Order: sequence, then structure tokens, then C-alpha cells
Amino acid sequence: MSAVWLVTGAAGMLGQDVLARLAREDITVVAADRAAMDIADPGSVRAGFDEHRPAVVVNCAAWTAVDDAESQEDAALRVNGTGPEVLAAACREHGAVLLQVSTDYVFAGDGDKPYAEDGPTGPRSAYGRTKLAGEQAVLDTLPDTGYVVRTAWLYGAGGGNFVRTMIKLEGVKETLDVVDDQRGQPTWTVDLADRLVRLGQAALAGTAPAGVYHGTSGGETTWFGFTREIFRLLGTDPARVSPTTSEAFVRPAPRPAFSVLGHDRWAVAGIEPIRDWRAALEEAFPALLAAERS
Ligand SMILES: NC(=O)c1ccc[n+]([C@@H]2O[C@H](COP(=O)([O-])OP(=O)(O)OC[C@H]3O[C@@H](n4cnc5c(N)ncnc54)[C@H](OP(=O)(O)O)[C@@H]3O)[C@@H](O)[C@H]2O)c1
Repeated sequence: MSAVWLVTGAAGMLGQDVLARLAREDITVVAADRAAMDIADPGSVRAGFDEHRPAVVVNCAAWTAVDDAESQEDAALRVNGTGPEVLAAACREHGAVLLQVSTDYVFAGDGDKPYAEDGPTGPRSAYGRTKLAGEQAVLDTLPDTGYVVRTAWLYGAGGGNFVRTMIKLEGVKETLDVVDDQRGQPTWTVDLADRLVRLGQAALAGTAPAGVYHGTSGGETTWFGFTREIFRLLGTDPARVSPTTSEAFVRPAPRPAFSVLGHDRWAVAGIEPIRDWRAALEEAFPALLAAERS
């Protein structure tokens, strides 16, 4: 019998693509949405582990409302901190590997060269603090079988995201002002799902050391540059998009000015880092367009 993989947060944007990627493997998959397993509830997690006995857990569940976390940090911490802590304890008891998805928001965002996997953290937002708590719980509880994969600027067909918002806005606005002073790496959920599955397989094979990996695309751009590329793919004039600054779009949670992550650590697992963001967006685009216009 093949090893059982448990995907938590399975109904989320990333969770759906992890399930699709796992469907291509000879793997028994248990898809747990929030109704099936509340990751912060030890009773719920214990029951799921006892029933399914997973060898690998991919935690795609999270509180992802970045701005709301500023006023509801305790609630966000329950999902992003306590949740991974509870999952890690269950994984330790059952000898399972845990892949915890995390975020660029654990960094201060004021650097000017790509953050290394072992670089100093320093979150500036409540969301970042809660996600860092989750990382630490996993790494402390599972020093040999805990994996933290940080991602950023995520988009996929199965959820609301920046690409889908821009597709929608292109249809209703003649011109758009978009922030040009925040740098990052747009990342397709399909590419991240692939690396999560391969990392889990390498973990089971004993060929990937535990610890932190960075699951973002290669290259970098700003939200303005990202939007211009989306407009190009829509077949419309990218000059309809103009650059502006973060000061024009103040939100409750501070946004990192510099969110570019380094990818060196994949080499120790024998897995290549994710491709350049432009190539990924081009391949992803038809599915995002169909999802937005359906
Ligand atoms: N989206 C981004 O740009 C981005 C950037 C950096 C990192 N990330 C990370 O990437 C991961 C996946 O994000 P995503 O974009 O796929 O998020 P998403 O679409 O919001 O999915 C998160 C899922 O978690 C579920 N959930 C919430 N609380 C739960 C709980 N207590 N127990 C079980 N499930 C729970 C949610 O269910 P409900 O819908 O019912 O609440 C939702 O289905 C997260 O770890 C996130 O922090 C995302």
C-alpha cells in the first residue's frame, strides 16, 4: 500500500493545486478541508491522524486575511501558530513528515538582496508574527522531519488573488495606478504544489534535509511590473497601467518593500528552484482567465 498523504486546508487556493499534483502520483491522499479537520483543535487533529495514519502532512491551512490579522491577532495566531504546533505534535507522535507553508512576511522587508533561508526574520505585521510562530513550532518540534516552505505573491485558478483582480479591473477601468515600490516574486500555486510534493517525496526517501526552503518564482518585479505583464497577456496596451507608490494605497498591515527570497537551499535536496515568474504566468494565464470569466 502506498504512503498516505494528508492535505489540510484542502479547499484553499493552494490546497486545491496540491491535490491536483498528488493525483498524478501513486499516493493515497486524504483531503481535509476546515470542516473535516480544524488544525488548531487537538481533538480534531488526533481523530484524523488515528483514522488515516499519514506519512506526510502538507499544511495548506492558514489565516490569510493579512489586514484583518492586525485587529484579530489572537484569532490569526490560533490558525497560523497553534495550528502548525498541533499538527507538528501529531506528526511527532506518528513519525510523519510535516510540510508547513509559510510566507515572505516573516522578514522585515527592508533588505536589498534576496533573503537567505537562514537569514534573520523580523516580521512587521501581525500576520507575519503569527506565521513565524507556526514556523518555529514546526522546526522546534520536528528538527528532523519538519519542513517550512516560504512562498509569496501567490496566485492560482482556485482562489481570489492579484492576477484575477487585475483581469477583472482591466475590463472596467480605462487606466490603473499600481504600486511600483514593492518588489517580489509572483508565484503560481501549480509550481509551488509541484515543489511541495517533490520535497515530501525526497523527505520520505531521506534525501532532503529538514528545515527552511523558499518556494517562490525566480526573477523579481513590482506590482506595477506584474500588472503590465498581465495586461500584455490580455492583449491590451500595458501603457494603460501607471506606477504609483505605497503611500497611495495605505492599508492596515504594512507591506514589505522588498520581498525577494533566495533559493539556494533547494540544491541540498536535489530539487531545482521554481522557474522565472514570467514564464510561469504565461503558462498559468489561460486557466486564470477562464476561472475569472466563468
Ligand atoms: N496567497 C498568498 O499570496 C500567500 C502568500 C504567502 C504565503 N501564503 C501562504 O500559502 C498558504 C496557502 O494560502 P492560500 O492562498 O491557498 O490560502 P487560502 O485560499 O485562504 O486557503 C487557506 C485555507 O485554510 C482554511 N482554514 C482556515 N482556518 C483553518 C483551520 N483552523 N483549520 C483548517 N483549515 C483552516 C481556509 O478555510 P476557510 O476558507 O473556511 O477559512 C482555507 O480553505 C498559507 O499558508 C498562506 O499563509 C499565501
